[in-house]
Amino acid sequence: MKVLVIGGAGYIGSHAVCELLKSNNEVVIMDNLSTGRESSINNKAKFYLGDITQKDDLIKVFREECSIKPFDVVMHFAAKLLVNESVEHPLEYYHNNVEGVRLMLETMTEFGIKNIVFSSTAAVYGNPTKEECSEDDTLLPVNPYGETKLTCEKMIKWVSNTYGINYGIFRYFNVAGADESLEIGYNYERKIITHLIPIVAEVALGIREKLMVYGDDYETKDGTCIRDYVHVSDLANAHVLGANYLLTENKSFIINLGSNDGYSVKEIIEAAEKIYPIKYEMSNRREGDPAKLIASNKKAKELLGWSQKLDLFDIINSDIKYRKRLVKK
Ligand SMILES: NC(=O)c1ccc[n+]([C@@H]2O[C@H](COP(=O)([O-])OP(=O)(O)OC[C@H]3O[C@@H](n4cnc5c(N)ncnc54)[C@H](O)[C@@H]3O)[C@@H](O)[C@H]2O)c1
Repeated sequence: MKVLVIGGAGYIGSHAVCELLKSNNEVVIMDNLSTGRESSINNKAKFYLGDITQKDDLIKVFREECSIKPFDVVMHFAAKLLVNESVEHPLEYYHNNVEGVRLMLETMTEFGIKNIVFSSTAAVYGNPTKEECSEDDTLLPVNPYGETKLTCEKMIKWVSNTYGINYGIFRYFNVAGADESLEIGYNYERKIITHLIPIVAEVALGIREKLMVYGDDYETKDGTCIRDYVHVSDLANAHVLGANYLLTENKSFIINLGSNDGYSVKEIIEAAEKIYPIKYEMSNRREGDPAKLIASNKKAKELLGWSQKLDLFDIINSDIKYRKRLVKK
């Protein structure tokens, strides 16, 4: 299939490009490099520097490419995704995340492209009341980031209804790790790193002094919070399966990409300590942190035959190795 990967120079998008190429698909990347990196652009894919909030940029890519061969699928990863930043700059988030998707869908309809795979997030659920999150749980985002993603999901559904576009919406939980080549991985150049595993990797390598553990008195097996982690290559692979599903079944879906089992903060520290000692400090609970949040992957298994091939150790080990490689460069 011929796939347009919007945001293909970013962390997850570059892994999706890698998995698509591994299974012999033709890939075109469009990215404005706002948070993506040139070094993450796969040289086996064609690259357009462009911004999806600019209709002219979209038209250029679609016109040039569709005159050769239309896209079978568009994959969208191009979002701003920092919760605190979205609270400080909600209009920027609405512009980039919502207006960008609106223009992308408009261009798809103009060029008759019928399949979209969209990256959504656990943030659309807000503060879930159940420990295991399933796709039909209540959607109640508690920040502008989650709200923009939910708005996009709804827009995609309505547009699909009118124009006969199939959609595959994936809601991610915690994504971490790096491709086995170690050529691509988490964007450590980000101004603020909020994800736990990249922080653990930096503590392991002595780039950060210590890890703060917020609360060890939760009602969990070891008192620390439990979250769901999926290796980015497994997650990317689900996108290839999802795109094939849209093409063969001609039906839409919304799927949580979770592991079904969570890991506690202490378990993450223990896994990392198999490689390097981890210095950490216990602190008080953070407001609003639920004890346990995991995602059911029943639907992903049933509909796409997806399962994780890589475990917590693979996630942490690949992340540390990737971070170490960046230090050497
Ligand atoms: N990383 C996570 O843990 C996580 C969790 C849940 C959901 N998601 C979703 O996954 C997607 C990808 O996240 P990521 O971690 O790879 O982020 P990222 O910042 O690494 O990648 C986003 C990419 O999109 C590009 N981009 C942004 N706005 C653009 C625009 N207007 N036009 C063209 N390109 C644009 C950026 O330059 C970057 O290359 C996002 O939609 C995000 O909401 C990520």
